[in-house]
Amino acid sequence: MTEFNKVLIATSLTTAFLCYSFYLYSSLPVHETAFTTTMDRGKDLWQEHNCTACHQVYGLGGFLGPDLTNVYTQRGPEYITAFLRNGNLTMPAYHMNDQDIQAMLAYLKHIDQSGISDPRSFKTNYDGTIEQQQ
Ligand code: HEC
Repeated sequence: MTEFNKVLIATSLTTAFLCYSFYLYSSLPVHETAFTTTMDRGKDLWQEHNCTACHQVYGLGGFLGPDLTNVYTQRGPEYITAFLRNGNLTMPAYHMNDQDIQAMLAYLKHIDQSGISDPRSFKTNYDGTIEQQQ
């Protein structure tokens, strides 16, 4: 192979790599929602009570309890409130007051709106990108 062909192939591959990278990173599926002080309080409670020791968000965290990324749409606020007040055999009861429960719900709703955690529900496109189906 001539030196010219090597340079041609290297240049073509580099150009293809740069174009594909630009295409991928210019269309990231980021769902931005405003962060309120109530959500902030919810996040503080999440950290104070160390919910992460047993629960995951986007698959990261402890594995004693279920992933809570999309628990808000999957279970709804009344179900979550019941868990936060009473717990059950495997989850501790936090006896949270109404204000703290509202804050926790606002934070869980915020996480829920950021995307879908279960990759099994994703659709793979012909160009190698993935789509989250709402
Ligand atoms: C000691 C471990 C532990 C901690 C800490 C913990 N949980 Fe849980 N949680 C669990 C377990 C285990 C379950 C599953 C209970 C079941 O289904 O029987 C659960 C269930 C839940 C559920 C219901 C989920 C579903 O889909 O059924 C919610 C909501 C929840 N936890 C929220 C929280 C929040 C918010 C915190 C922090 C304030 C927290 N948990 C802290 C262990 C824990």
